[in-house]
Amino acid sequence: NKNKLFRAEGVAPSNIAIVKYWGKQGIQEPLNPSISFTLSKAVTNTTIKYQWSKLPLEINFLFEGKRKDSFLPKLNTLTERIGSFLPFLKSGTLSIESANTFPHSSGIASSASSMASIAMALYQIQKNINADAFTQNEDKLISEMARLGSGSACRSTMKGWVLWGDTPHISNSSKHYGIEINNVVHPDFNELQDTILVIRKGAKAVSSTVGHQLMENHPYREGRIKQANRNTELLLNALRHGDFNAFACVCEEEALSLHGLMMSSTPAYTLMAPESLRVIKRIHKFRDHHHIPITFTLDAGPNVHLIYPGSQSKIVHPFIEEHLRPLCDNEEVIYDQISIQ
Ligand code: PMV
Repeated sequence: NKNKLFRAEGVAPSNIAIVKYWGKQGIQEPLNPSISFTLSKAVTNTTIKYQWSKLPLEINFLFEGKRKDSFLPKLNTLTERIGSFLPFLKSGTLSIESANTFPHSSGIASSASSMASIAMALYQIQKNINADAFTQNEDKLISEMARLGSGSACRSTMKGWVLWGDTPHISNSSKHYGIEINNVVHPDFNELQDTILVIRKGAKAVSSTVGHQLMENHPYREGRIKQANRNTELLLNALRHGDFNAFACVCEEEALSLHGLMMSSTPAYTLMAPESLRVIKRIHKFRDHHHIPITFTLDAGPNVHLIYPGSQSKIVHPFIEEHLRPLCDNEEVIYDQISIQ
């Protein structure tokens, strides 16, 4: 085995959270449960080559063909944290190459899909080295390893609707890994569209690492934990019953609360742009006027994710093209949707 070169691939989708993970404790454990769905077109493909040697682990990282050393600290943290699961990571040379199927800084979370795809490929290498290294709970283990790289990545090693965090009444839920909850989701929610309105291209003003830290001494910390737990329960009910109105209430409250938490942090941040608010107003007006099931969410940035059932595309697409695309940076809009299989 010792002279052999091992190679494995990992493919993982990005995800968009409806109930947001914001704030952590211990080693990447969430302050509250979160629920997301994975996307179809926004995917990271990773290839890893591993060459055994006695020397301490060395990592090379190429992103879309170019060296990206700024990602190495995150990869070092990941490999240190998962070394107890994957003993081969103690020494040798690891060459990691990743590429996204979606544009950079477009408001699609790339750390989730990239860490998830890397965790999948690393797991596969350990299996190639030692075929009976793991016998059960593979999905949980891969999700847990992804979490140790980037929290939300644990919701990207699976497909469709994923819950992460201890949740009352869901006995297999865990703060250590995500679980698929597709079997309790009404079929209407299996064909959701996520159209990303790129309000500002470019790097975020606050990284999620810094954002999570802001929750440590946040004046609304306890209130936020309660709110997220309640919203998790409300969202699970809405998903179960196919209740789009209830879904939209949770979705918007979570998005706006996330921004409210950032506005009330020390230091405080305003991450929405004027166009984000204009888009939100136009969505509300369109919904009030046409009684169409449509809602939105935002991550920790200005871009807006427009969410609606696929059955509404015929009515919603002209609205996007006419009223929302002109408000986007360079008029950029990305049509994506949930991936279930
Ligand atoms: O996984 P992280 O540390 O990049 O945090 C993600 C935080 C949000 O995207 C804002 C919310 C979420 O649950 O994905």
